[in-house]
This record gives sequence, structure tokens and C-alpha cells, in this order.
Amino acid sequence: MFKLTPQLYDKIKHFARFPQTGVSLRQMVMFGQKPSPATFFKASQFLHEELPIRLAHRVKELDELPRSLGDMPSIVKVKNWYAQSFQELIELPSPVLSTELKSSFRNQTKSPKSFPQSTPNLAVPQVKPSKNYHQSVPIGHRYFNNYENIECTPPILSYTESFVKTIEGVKRRHDPVVTTMAQGIMEYKQHRKSSMIDADVQQFLDRFYMSRIGIRMLIGQHSALYRGPFMRNYVGVICTRTNIKDIAQDAIANARFICEDYYGLFKAPEVKMFCPGDIEFMYVPSHLNHMVFELLKNSLRAVVERFGPDYEDDYPPIKLVIAHGKEDITIKISDEGGGLPRSGIPVVWTYMYTTAQAQELEPEFNKSEFKAPMAGFGYGLPISRLYARYFGGDLKLISMEGYGTDAYLHLNRLSNSDEPLIM
Ligand SMILES: Nc1ncnc2c1ncn2[C@@H]1O[C@H](COP(=O)(O)OP(=O)(O)O)[C@@H](O)[C@H]1O
Ligand SMILES: [Mg+2]
Repeated sequence: MFKLTPQLYDKIKHFARFPQTGVSLRQMVMFGQKPSPATFFKASQFLHEELPIRLAHRVKELDELPRSLGDMPSIVKVKNWYAQSFQELIELPSPVLSTELKSSFRNQTKSPKSFPQSTPNLAVPQVKPSKNYHQSVPIGHRYFNNYENIECTPPILSYTESFVKTIEGVKRRHDPVVTTMAQGIMEYKQHRKSSMIDADVQQFLDRFYMSRIGIRMLIGQHSALYRGPFMRNYVGVICTRTNIKDIAQDAIANARFICEDYYGLFKAPEVKMFCPGDIEFMYVPSHLNHMVFELLKNSLRAVVERFGPDYEDDYPPIKLVIAHGKEDITIKISDEGGGLPRSGIPVVWTYMYTTAQAQELEPEFNKSEFKAPMAGFGYGLPISRLYARYFGGDLKLISMEGYGTDAYLHLNRLSNSDEPLIM
């Protein structure tokens, strides 16, 4: 049984003093289809330093929540998972490098080729790192360094193997975090006898889930780079030629299928796609699919509930328009589902706000990723917006009450802005 001891908590507090280091999509794809063992080893070292820092920030923040929230049993459970993962990582021994190996790593670091050119994300205000930023990082490994010709010794290879296994275990442990946190918020609401959550809890959850997306992205990416499958146009879980049209088509089919199933329809509302040719860009297909799928389910639900299930042959179609410019690719999803009042827009971004019949939270159903069924968790929009922002994009909703809603999903295509870790 794991226990968060005061000694461990002291270590956590120490690590939480270091700033988190964001990685950009551009850096992530620098590895190419299959990195050399030495390049992979260096990235492992970076993660071995970075992940405990990120986990420590989370434990500390969970620990410093207002007592009435932080003491909820499910929140304590989540905090212990983070602390346990932190402990596993810091207790995993690093390999001892021979002087010779150390110097070959050092000499190659100077190769100027190792870093991508910086392209700022013009839509996001740029934050300058503070002056002593680099000095404050404990060892200061970098995520990507290209080491083609360095031969790795068996201890290094066995280290990378056990590091990958450890972080895969961490990822698995944290699978049920979203449902368990949601459970914790529910406990809190019952405890306070109120149905709304305050702005600071909302902000805390945004930060918390954004950090989770980042940690899972880095772990998923590292494990995919190690194990494969090594597919063409893929770097880990990133597809360098993600075809938006294909992904949208998939999401449309899945969302309509779920809608038909949920409302007992033969034919869900049509979704008409407008896409100028084949647009390909660099993205994580699973993230894109998740966002488009969530938006489509909301639109389908709004249309079906506005017109009723007997209107099946005459539902106004939903439009999905894809546009690509120099900076952004935008997907607009427009429905005639009756819309929302302007005052309702801020509320839809809050966690657990839903107008659908609330769904039972079953820890079972969350075996891998959090994927809500038709509706009823109130997580669809806020989590999708975090996915969009994670790679420098955004999600916005504009509604005409009495008519319908337009959702704008902006995806930034140029930038190599780092993960947004401080919000
Ligand atoms: N296209 C839309 N038209 C009308 N209302 C919407 C639309 N999209 C979202 N909403 C409102 O926002 C709420 C929250 O949406 P979401 O976060 O996806 O959670 P859920 O779908 O589980 O309710 C919905 O319950 C609904 O009331
Ligand atoms: Mg939804």
C-alpha cells in the first residue's frame, strides 16, 4: 500500500520549486520516424528529469486546495497516484556513464543542427522566460538532441528499457484520473450543497487537465518512439501529414452512429462537409478526432432535441467547413439546434455543466481514455478546448439563441510555441 510520507512530501515540494519545461510540436517531430538509441536515451534523461517536476507541481497543488475540496476521498486518491508516480520515477536509477561516453555526448551537443528555428505563435501573447530560468533547472537536459554516431552501452540500453516501462506504468495508473477527479468534484458539490463550482476551482481544473494532457502526450510519444509501429508519415503518435478530411469523416460516422443509437433513430441529422481539397498538416490524429467528435455530438444532440425524434427525414443538416490559411486551419461546425443565450456561453465551459441527463460515473468504463458517450458529463467542451490550446490553437462558440450554434476550432499550423504549462 502506498503512503505519502512527510519525507516524500518534502522531496515533492523541493521538485515543485523548479519550473516546468514546455516542449513544442516542432521539437517532438525532430526525432524522425525512428530515433537512434543515443538520441532516445538523451530524451529519456530529459523526461526523467521533467516528469517528476510536473508531477510534483500537481501533488503540491492538490495538497494546497481549500480543505473542503482537498479532503474529498477521490481527490486524495488522485493526489496519492501522482505522489506514487513521482516516487517511482525518482527512485529509478540513472545509468553511470563512462568518461569517454560523457565526452562524446558533450562534444556532439554543440552541433548547430539540433534545434528547429523558432516560429512564434502570433495568436498567443509571448512570455519571455525569466532571466535565471536556465540556471534554475537542476541539470538542464534538453528534449531533443541528435546523436547519430554514439554507440550505446548495455547499461544505457537497459536503462531506457526500464524507463519506458516505468512511464508506461505511470500512464496506466493515471487512466482513471478524469473520472476520479469528477467524482471528487461531485463529492465536493454534495458536501457544499451547491451545484456550481467557483472560478478558482474551474481554473485549477483547467491547469490540472492541461498538465495531464502534456504528461500523457510526452509519455505516449516516448513509448511510441520506442516500440513502434514505425509508420510512414508518423513520428510517435504525431502524424506529419494528418488529413483533416479523413479524420472529420471518421468523426462524423462515429458521432452519427452514437446519436442514432442513443435516440433510437434510423437516420441521425446529416453532416455536410465543405473542404477545399485534401488538407494535410502536422498534428496528433487522436486529439483532432476527439475534438471534432465532441463538437459533432453536441450539434447532433441540439438538432435532435430541438426538432424531436419524429422529424427524422427533415432535420436541417449540420455544416462542417474546413478552411486553411497561412497561420491557422479552422474547422467550423454549424448547427440549427436552437442555440444558447449569450449568458449561457461562459457556463458551457465549466466542468460538469450539462443540460443532458447526468450519466453515472463508472470507474470501469474509463479503462483507457476519457470518452463520454452521447452527452451528460459536461466535459466535452472544456476538455476539447484544452486539447486545442495544447498545440497553440483554440476553440470558440458563438450562438444565435433561437436558431443555432457555430463552433470554431482553430488549429495553429506554423508555430513551435511550447506547451502551455502555466495558465
Ligand atoms: N451546439 C450546441 N447547441 C446547443 N447547446 C450546446 C451545444 N454545444 C453545447 N451545448 C450546451 O453545453 C453543454 C455542455 O456541453 P459539453 O461540455 O459537451 O457536455 P455534455 O455534452 O456532456 O453536456 C451541453 O449540455 C449543452 O447544454
Ligand atoms: Mg458534449
